[in-house]
Amino acid sequence: NRRQFLAAAALSGLASACGSASASDPTTFRTELRVPPLLDPKVDKDGTRRFTLTMRRGLSEFLPGRPVETWGFNGPLLGPTIRAARGDEIRMTVTNRLDEVSTVHWHGMRLPAKMDGGPHQPIEPGATWNPHWTIDQPAATSWYHPHPHGQTARHVYRGLAGMFIVDDDRGEAGLPSRYGVDDIPLILQDKNLAEDGSPTGDPLKGTFGILGDHMLVNGTHRGFLNVGTERVRFRILNGSNARMYHLTFADGRSFHVVGGDAGLLAAPVEVERVSLTPGERVEVVVAFTAGEQVLLRTVSGSDDIDEGDFDLLKIVAAPRLTASPRLPGRLAGAPAPIVVPSNATVRRFRLNGHDAINGKEMDMSRIDEVVPAGAVEIWEVENTVYPHNFHIHEVAFQVIDVDGQKPAGYASGHKDTVYVPSKSTVRLAVQFGRFTDPGTPYMYHCHILRHEDSGMMGQFVIVPPGTANQVPRTIAAHH
Ligand code: C2O
Ligand code: CU
Ligand code: CU
Repeated sequence: NRRQFLAAAALSGLASACGSASASDPTTFRTELRVPPLLDPKVDKDGTRRFTLTMRRGLSEFLPGRPVETWGFNGPLLGPTIRAARGDEIRMTVTNRLDEVSTVHWHGMRLPAKMDGGPHQPIEPGATWNPHWTIDQPAATSWYHPHPHGQTARHVYRGLAGMFIVDDDRGEAGLPSRYGVDDIPLILQDKNLAEDGSPTGDPLKGTFGILGDHMLVNGTHRGFLNVGTERVRFRILNGSNARMYHLTFADGRSFHVVGGDAGLLAAPVEVERVSLTPGERVEVVVAFTAGEQVLLRTVSGSDDIDEGDFDLLKIVAAPRLTASPRLPGRLAGAPAPIVVPSNATVRRFRLNGHDAINGKEMDMSRIDEVVPAGAVEIWEVENTVYPHNFHIHEVAFQVIDVDGQKPAGYASGHKDTVYVPSKSTVRLAVQFGRFTDPGTPYMYHCHILRHEDSGMMGQFVIVPPGTANQVPRTIAAHH
């Protein structure tokens, strides 16, 4: 058992050698944290912003001096950060330079189904895909990653993932927002690394797939980050295949959560710890004092998908810090609470095992749910077994309750992915968008990629209100 192994390893001093420790030596955090570059768009005369992404292979060094093959967008690993504002017209040029078919899904984006980048929008090797849409959603930290049916776990584990920041001038005032200075993305991923530094392990094996013992932040193992301002906003993405993080600082300091998956919170929430399952994001603001150092770490909770305590990143504050604006008491850019009508449709989803929802394995030619445009519905997700989570494409939702209990304050805002603890029921107030397309589905699924790939996924379409009964429940699947 891994917990026993870790305890034994810590006693024998092995823990730091294999990269895990509840109290690691901060001097071993020697590699400067890689911060993904911002992707510069080409701006047309009419203001349209054109972004170019190329999926390709390359070489990365997870362990110094040991380059290994990885996959990335526009580079060897991960991808550049896309940043766009509400109201922007976006045009993407996505080229696949891999040897196999993939897709690029905009996780957290509210857009027409044909632009979503799920399994129905394959990009063949050598081909280019050109989705386009208008950004029309509140400020949020979204991300992008491949979504080819049955292959997502492998493609993400190889390195394909990036952040997608949405700005909204309707009220981010007071929050640090200078990218790479006081607004820093942290993409958390764990890998098992062989002696030669290459990621090993079968992402489709065991109950959860990959639970690695090397923690990477933006692809950097044992990294440090120099900060020069009194407050820093971190946009944290759990981009791991399966691991759940319970994030704290080594000195137990408190910090403020200002946003979740799909937007800002109405007001900052002070915490000492936040939990994050795969696919979830959280935005936090952390205060620093001049000259200090602190480790960001994950500690084990009572879940099965967070085995072990690990230090993730060392943060080093400069001897003199630039003043930061005061954290606002209210966040004006927070989306309005989702109001559930009294006659709201209730849909029930049952998770048992790891390869089906409501007893049905994912089938690309089957439409599981038909939702009228603009609806607000209650989705009730019951988990009868070990931990899962639940992600819905296109929507924003709020957690109504978990086994009748209100969610933690920091998890009460707009989200698109939620933890569903073992043997519990989560109720969601789900707000659907207005893009209708009866023939092209969006997905809902467990975001533990091992489960998603083995069939714990379903499909829904959004249709004009009043037409649900006329919609065919079978479609032509591309693959
Ligand atoms: Cu992040 Cu359906 O995916
Ligand atoms: Cu998604
Ligand atoms: Cu699952």
